[in-house]
Amino acid sequence: MELVRNIRNPDFLDVEGVGSVVRAINSPSEEKQDSSSLKLDSDVAEEYTQLKPYAGMPKEVLLLYSSQARYRIPREIMFWLTVACTLALVALTITVIALSPRCLCWWQVSPVYQIYPRSFRDSDGDGVGDIKGIQEQLDHFEYLNIKSVWISPFYRSPMKDFGYDVEDFLAIDPLFGTMKDFEELLAEMHNKGLKLIMDFIPNHTSDQHRWFNLSRMRDPHYEDYYVWTDCNETGPRPNNWVTVFGNSSWTYDEVRGQCYLHQFLKEQPDLNLRNPQVRQEMIDIIHFWLGKGVDGFRMDSVKFILEAAHLRDEPQVDPNKSPESVTSEWDLHHDYTTSQLGLHDLLRDWRAEMDIYSREPGKYRFMVTQSYDYHEVDKTMMYYGTSLVKESDFPFNFYLMDLPQNTSGLWVQHLVHLWMANMPKGQWPNWLVGNHDKPRIASIAGQNYIRVINMLLLTLPGTPTTYYGEEIGMENINVTDSQIQDPAGKFNASASRDPQRSPMQWSGNMNGDFNNKTNVTWLPVHPDYKSVNVEVQKKDEGSVLAQYRFLNTLRQSELPLHRGWFCYIHADANVFSYLRELDGLDQAFLMVLNFGKESAITDLSSFPELPDQLKVLMSTNHVNNGKVLQKSHILTEAGEGLVIQYSTHTRFNPNHTKQCYVSEKACYVGAMDILYKC
Ligand code: GLC
Ligand code: MG
Repeated sequence: MELVRNIRNPDFLDVEGVGSVVRAINSPSEEKQDSSSLKLDSDVAEEYTQLKPYAGMPKEVLLLYSSQARYRIPREIMFWLTVACTLALVALTITVIALSPRCLCWWQVSPVYQIYPRSFRDSDGDGVGDIKGIQEQLDHFEYLNIKSVWISPFYRSPMKDFGYDVEDFLAIDPLFGTMKDFEELLAEMHNKGLKLIMDFIPNHTSDQHRWFNLSRMRDPHYEDYYVWTDCNETGPRPNNWVTVFGNSSWTYDEVRGQCYLHQFLKEQPDLNLRNPQVRQEMIDIIHFWLGKGVDGFRMDSVKFILEAAHLRDEPQVDPNKSPESVTSEWDLHHDYTTSQLGLHDLLRDWRAEMDIYSREPGKYRFMVTQSYDYHEVDKTMMYYGTSLVKESDFPFNFYLMDLPQNTSGLWVQHLVHLWMANMPKGQWPNWLVGNHDKPRIASIAGQNYIRVINMLLLTLPGTPTTYYGEEIGMENINVTDSQIQDPAGKFNASASRDPQRSPMQWSGNMNGDFNNKTNVTWLPVHPDYKSVNVEVQKKDEGSVLAQYRFLNTLRQSELPLHRGWFCYIHADANVFSYLRELDGLDQAFLMVLNFGKESAITDLSSFPELPDQLKVLMSTNHVNNGKVLQKSHILTEAGEGLVIQYSTHTRFNPNHTKQCYVSEKACYVGAMDILYKC
């Protein structure tokens, strides 16, 4: 009521004729009587309530009006309405962001290209590929429009398993170059917009690793770094476990007087990942390389990283076989040496370490796991993690390696479906047909099929991985017994992995230009290098290379191929056909791939969503490019694949939900993904 006293506006009285108010204000008695002012004030307030608002009304009076219900209530309603609208707007914005298609991450956009560093390019002429050699050939990736490159191990190593036996996780093997060479390669790759993925090998080290030597000598810190148990030098082994390369997993160490476990070579002792110090070492290694700027890891042999502590015998596949003749990995059910409880916790911990480096925009660190769990698809899928706990971005999908087993469209659809039907909701698929461990697809399926296989990989949804040389259709070499280098081949010549590791064929020059300085190569160059090489194929628009490049560019520029729906259309003894479309776009792609042994005519007239006439955008038989076909009569030769682009206003997927997949990872952001930048 202090305010009231200060009103000294005679016009107020004159204009409104409310003399009582002014009287009250000017009253001398009011000025004296502080004790009675409360009463007076309330009288005054009452009188104010009889006033009507007018323009130019003083603030003090206005304040009195504002508390009246007829002004206060609408004002409060307006206030809360504004709050509610603002909140609704924020919620709507978040929903739109969460539900709208987003840019794919780098590991989804481009195929991953695998380099086996011994075999890619030899810059110094010692017969073995090296880091500088890789740097010399980076333009190859620009040419192919490939952005992600995985380089198999280049750590310091005695090379018993060609780098998968690591002597020092923080050093480069001199055979491949120096740390400076590596840093230069990484910087150059980043300059060119390429990402570098490297191997991380947590299961084992080399027996030459400092840790192993200290462990053998029972250094208190390192004593439990490996898996040791009592045994006699000559007596029976602690249990019947066998290595992946054959024979017992236990080797007696005379320094320590105990046996150590190795799931691969005896020169590759298994680390004891139950030991927290070993786990910390692994985390330090991850930080070391991510700190250098490496963009991701391929986690090697993950299913082997823990073994059952009780060390019981594994059950034999054939219980009648004599225990002494159990020497191969196929003889046992690996209940105690693979996929043990705790394995996924380890991977999730490593993932969390990688995520620390993933938060900067453009710096997402990618993780792929490697585990040959062929017949246990559920085990494979677990490496995707769950919707709340991240693990790998994808586990390698090895199912298409089985493609040559049965050349039919139905079989290929079956292999594709194995992944699509079992992949957890919202995850991103991936495909490959070869690597440094398996025979080259062009040799087992036949040169005739390499184009259609590349077409499959580059038009399926998800990330394809290309093993070096597949882009030109390289084949296995023949390796005589005396030439065998691979330890697996020394145990069993037919299991040798040398044939698929031959030098990359760059040109028809000496050694295919793998090594143009001297005439030595660690494995022979394939005799077909004069015709099967990058230089020759660049000049030929119908070559495997030209087609690979065309398809990869198409995949990346056409949204339906990149991120769209994937729907099965047809499969029979020869042909596998599917389409890719994206809601909101009228361009769609139909693939008709003949994996059979005969030519085939495919009739798709029962699908009203497809136009009657279909124009071939690309055929693996390039003379058929541009051909117009009737949908009732689509002719393909054995090994021929067609990409047909067509216009449509009728989407296929809404009417065929059971045969269509969309990767939510491509289209929607999950709760976790909002946290990670790509
Ligand atoms: C993985 C590699 C293979 C290696 C093994 C042992 O399976 O792909 O080449 O021999 O691990 O590290
Ligand atoms: Mg292990």
